[in-house]
Amino acid sequence: MSDRRKFLKSSVSAVSVIPMIACKAENGNSVLSQEVVKPALISTWNHGIVANNAAWKILGDNGKAIDAVEAGVRLTESDPTGQSVGIGGRPDMNGDVTLDACIMNEKGDCGSVAYLKNIEHPISVARQVMEETPHVMLVGDGAKQFALEKGHPEINLLTDQSKQEWQKWLESERKVLPKINVENHDTIGLLALDSHGDLSGACTTSGAAWKLPGRVGDSPIIGAGLYVDNEVGGATATGWGEAVIRAVGCFLVVELMRQGNSAQRACELAVERVISKNPDWREIQVGFIALSKDGNYGGYCIQPGFDYAVQTANLDNQMIKSGSRI
Ligand code: GLY
Repeated sequence: MSDRRKFLKSSVSAVSVIPMIACKAENGNSVLSQEVVKPALISTWNHGIVANNAAWKILGDNGKAIDAVEAGVRLTESDPTGQSVGIGGRPDMNGDVTLDACIMNEKGDCGSVAYLKNIEHPISVARQVMEETPHVMLVGDGAKQFALEKGHPEINLLTDQSKQEWQKWLESERKVLPKINVENHDTIGLLALDSHGDLSGACTTSGAAWKLPGRVGDSPIIGAGLYVDNEVGGATATGWGEAVIRAVGCFLVVELMRQGNSAQRACELAVERVISKNPDWREIQVGFIALSKDGNYGGYCIQPGFDYAVQTANLDNQMIKSGSRI
């Protein structure tokens, strides 16, 4: 293994190993310009490894980022052992598994579904909302009706494991705020930069365990759980969605990159903003990952324990431990 590769493996971000040149943006601000590393993928938590593998196959064939992110997270949605996404997700307090997802392409088009029940692939429904309707977001019964009309089969999403945990929760003191890194361990968010230089992103989740019926988190909210701007970069979020929504977290990360911050620094500054807007920040987890237009990536969170999967033209698919505020 080359020295450079070893360094990348132990680094939070590849930013520091790629030569950067300060130059002037049109607005006069200094921005960083550097070697473009593409294709590139970054995704949340260890379920990201499998998702990246599927996405990489598409990017490796010169495929489009939008197809890669959809294909990647569909695998997570179909995995019954993952209890925070798709089949197997922990239910709300009534025992219903409800799914939130959104997707965004290089043109800035976006689609989203929220509070969707009994459908295996909310991310594909979100893409159909984006591509086949004049709308951005469908929720609840309307989203389900749309999914059924588009040929998605109706299925049971509640596994025995999640049902048993819910029944145990019913017999407990019934706390709604989930255990950090366990009951909100969490959204899969996947960002891709393809060989054409285009960015897309997807995120999908069953949301917070034991939530109030009707609750929608950050994941289907464009700008909160996901944002992509093909001129700048993309970001996606994980953790307690209410805190991410309050800070419009992923839009903020992208705007911070637009101002010249690296992907890593932008995630750190966004976590600081979340902290400043949420007095209870020590009790919650929020994490961001980001991928810039030039393949620079980063991630940061409040609590230790968050990690993310990265694969780039320079780096084999692997987990990176996120830096954390605590
Ligand atoms: N971040 C997922 C949720 O809060 O629903």
